[in-house]
Amino acid sequence: MSDSQLWDDVDAYFTALLSPEDEALRAALRDSDAEGLPHINVAPNQGKLLHLLAQIQGARAILEIGTLGGYSTIWLARALPADGRLVTLEYDAHHADVARRNLAHAGVDRIAEVRVGPALETLPKLADENPPPFDLVFIDADKVNNPHYVEWALKLTRAGSLIILDNVVRGGSVTDPTSTDPSVRGTRAALELIAAHPRLQGTAIQTVGSKGYDGFALARVVA
Ligand code: SAH
Ligand code: DHB
Ligand code: MG
Repeated sequence: MSDSQLWDDVDAYFTALLSPEDEALRAALRDSDAEGLPHINVAPNQGKLLHLLAQIQGARAILEIGTLGGYSTIWLARALPADGRLVTLEYDAHHADVARRNLAHAGVDRIAEVRVGPALETLPKLADENPPPFDLVFIDADKVNNPHYVEWALKLTRAGSLIILDNVVRGGSVTDPTSTDPSVRGTRAALELIAAHPRLQGTAIQTVGSKGYDGFALARVVA
């Protein structure tokens, strides 16, 4: 058996047991697929991890950068209380349309709001509104801007907030200091920022599974 077949089988086992998808989550993926969106959403067990982390945070407000069809958004929004708030930022208007439909179908559209545009334009607008601090930020958009997204996350959070970055391993390319790949460079710069920043304590974890070999970074805002 190939490694990736094994990883798929174990993810299928864990997911069926611990993070089964309900109709709304399945519909979100089916609709995203029908609309031609790429299959780069978090896996179901990763979605459940985000959901649990949001609950552990006692999150009342969540910021997501990179919506796609709203699959991770649904997992996160379902961790919020009825008067909670989730803002998710998406560059692509078609992705945002698909996501809004999926969020409505999942019944979280009163809690979760999709804002369209390049996140480096929608983040300053969001900051201008002086929102209450976000308790969790999930960064999962264009990796080249990851350091900027970590900086924005710091502006929009409080001591105790959690910042999560997806896709920090990308098959191992993250270790190459000479890489010219903008995604690798952006992710390395974000990790270095987390390492050096006096307000952050972080770590990074490699993962294998249905999404291949990748990983997450977690950073807690400590001051
Ligand atoms: N979080 C989603 C997957 C996001 S995929 C999930 O797990 O279900 C990354 C998304 O980021 C894509 O929809 C892409 O259009 C969006 N994106 C890319 N560049 C962006 C930018 N500059 N600002 C906001 N969103 C961006
Ligand atoms: C890609 C992006 C993601 O956010 C992800 O989780 C997997 C793959 C990509 O752009 O290839
Ligand atoms: Mg991702």
